[in-house]
Amino acid sequence: MSQITVTGGKPLVGRVDIKGAKNLVTKAMVAALLGHSASVLKDVPKISDVEVVSRLLQLHGVLITHDEDGVMHLDPSNVESARMVDIDAHAGSSRIPILFCGPLLHRLGEAFIPDLGGCHIGDRPIDFHLEVLRNFGAVIEKLPNGTRLSAPEGLKGAKVSLPYPSVGATEQVLLTSVLAEGITELSGAAIEPEIMDLIAILQKMGAVISVDTDRVIRVEGVERLEGYTHRALFDRNEAASWAAAALATQGDIFVGGARQPEMMTFLNVFRKVGGAFEIEDDGIRFYHPGGELNPVVIETDVHPGFMTDWQQPLVVALTQAKGLSIVHETVYENRFGFTDALNDMGAQIQIYRECLGGTPCRFGQRNFYHSAVISGPTALKAADIRVPDLRGGFSHMVAALAAEGTSNVSNVQLISRGYEHFLDKLAALGADFSYTE
Ligand code: EPZ
Repeated sequence: MSQITVTGGKPLVGRVDIKGAKNLVTKAMVAALLGHSASVLKDVPKISDVEVVSRLLQLHGVLITHDEDGVMHLDPSNVESARMVDIDAHAGSSRIPILFCGPLLHRLGEAFIPDLGGCHIGDRPIDFHLEVLRNFGAVIEKLPNGTRLSAPEGLKGAKVSLPYPSVGATEQVLLTSVLAEGITELSGAAIEPEIMDLIAILQKMGAVISVDTDRVIRVEGVERLEGYTHRALFDRNEAASWAAAALATQGDIFVGGARQPEMMTFLNVFRKVGGAFEIEDDGIRFYHPGGELNPVVIETDVHPGFMTDWQQPLVVALTQAKGLSIVHETVYENRFGFTDALNDMGAQIQIYRECLGGTPCRFGQRNFYHSAVISGPTALKAADIRVPDLRGGFSHMVAALAAEGTSNVSNVQLISRGYEHFLDKLAALGADFSYTE
């Protein structure tokens, strides 16, 4: 396992430039399968999630090139079904394969999807996805190592409603409905910026999609879609991660590529904690202006609420705030596992089953430790850490960078799943570390 030895106590100062959102580019790549001509996707980061999806697409005959500037060409003109054993080799590596269902059913009339991977932050079922696909007319067969789908009568538009505004399930509907016969109406849709960017891509391809004020998405199926050219939306989760790092290390980080509109909720919280930011044309400067950090009460939610992916890095900064902060995680039932390592480093974080600080959520009274109380400020001291998941891993790195002393952080390859050139960025910010494979 790859390991980093970090000597903390130094502020992170400098500039990082971020590319397209991990949670958009992988879906945009799958969308290229729907086009009869080649697509060009710009600002695609070189991260392992992108590599996994590239391999799966290539297994199905898509020709892909991805250059150093992040420009990806995808040519789906000779898509054919891959051998199950090849696809199965990618089982457990990502959640994106589930989004291949609609496009492969449209192109091939069948699909085999390996069992899914992704961060262990909850059960992460795919019941909404399968329900939606059945509504479109898919026949689904669960196999020991994955799921086989077919569409004997083709895919027809459907009226579907999501019990929870799931990002993935909304993408499932979008990627399946655009070529389905007739009208699709999705109520209870997710409307994250990454979803809206995927809709923009599909519209470029020839799709007819509207998003109403009541979160109802309507799609008129069309006969044929062409390839697209698109510059991916920036990664607001990575931008928020570096912003939290600047706060936790009393640093000053310019995040090139970050934009204000998609980060408004984060910026409000960042300012309330005591951080300062300056919006420039080509990015956002996040810095610790000196003085004390303030405790806050945060409830994660779907867009435009406070993103669940933002809370983990920010919790590290909250360990340095004077007083009690509360985080009520309402999107995933088990997303505070990373706090154990922070407590080992001297943080004082208590997690609770109750819905603390906000409205009761789906996880209340169900034995899920989904609320956290952070008491600060606490001096963080170095420790040996093993990265548990993507965002938790970034938080552990930030804690090690903020702590006094030298920490060993293992399993860091999990961080490269979502943060391109992570080590180069740390070095550019003046972090004191060494890396062993
Ligand atoms: C996407 O995951 C992102 N991942 C997540 O980012 C992000 O946290 C999440 O959306 C919420 O914004 C990617 O886009 C690859 P969901 P997704 O379906 O689509 C439940 C990161 O760190 N649910 O909106 O899997 C689910 O269990 C990752 O970049 C069902 O119950 O999230 C969860 O409680 C982490 N059944 C809630 O919905 C289903 O069929 C939200 O999940 C699907 C979801």
